[in-house]
Amino acid sequence: MDEMKLEKSDEIVRMSLHDLEDVLAIERDSFSNPWPKDHFRQIISDRKHAVPLVAKRDGEVIGYGIAWLKFETFHIGNLAVHRSFRRRKIGQRLLRALMETGLGRDCRLATLEVRETNQAAISLYRKFGFSPVALQTGYYDDTGENAIIMMTELRQDVRTPPGYQMIPHVEEKDR
Ligand SMILES: CC(C)(COP(=O)(O)OP(=O)(O)OC[C@H]1O[C@@H](n2cnc3c(N)ncnc32)[C@H](O)[C@@H]1OP(=O)(O)O)[C@@H](O)C(=O)NCCC(=O)NCCS
Repeated sequence: MDEMKLEKSDEIVRMSLHDLEDVLAIERDSFSNPWPKDHFRQIISDRKHAVPLVAKRDGEVIGYGIAWLKFETFHIGNLAVHRSFRRRKIGQRLLRALMETGLGRDCRLATLEVRETNQAAISLYRKFGFSPVALQTGYYDDTGENAIIMMTELRQDVRTPPGYQMIPHVEEKDR
């Protein structure tokens, strides 16, 4: 069961400027085209449209996920887990928390793009009901790789892995 892998000290909260250096370290280790610091700063300060979340264990950042509200669409723009904590359901907890937040903000559709070679991420997104809807050729500047655009409806009964623990509404925890 997924819950068995969770530690008591685990939490998912809104990203703050205090988390920035830890987030950047994970970002630089995870992506060949990491986002610059200023981009994260802007996202953290945009409380109206941006949903930046961090997963923490014992107060340390072990992963993060970022999404934007665009009218009724929730766009998932970034998701990464610290290398040492991968395959421990942190990624799916973050994705679940993002999708819960999108639902709580009345979004009906979630979209994202993913490198076509990123099997780990594609498998995670499929698990949460995302389907490929389009291919954007040469989308990634660094390698010229194609992006797969994936989409899912956001519904209360959105498909989630069995035994998954519901996370309290993240915006509430942040107050
Ligand atoms: C993609 C990523 C966020 C997944 O996070 P994670 O915490 O390791 O994933 P989880 O443990 O929550 O795994 C959930 C599901 O994702 C899929 N998955 C995760 N890692 C996988 C891997 N290496 N190979 C195949 N499937 C994988 C599986 O379906 C898994 O379910 P299972 O454990 O029941 O098989 C993580 O690998 C990562 O940070 N990668 C680098 C950054 C990145 O590529 N981000 C995505 C950008 S679109």
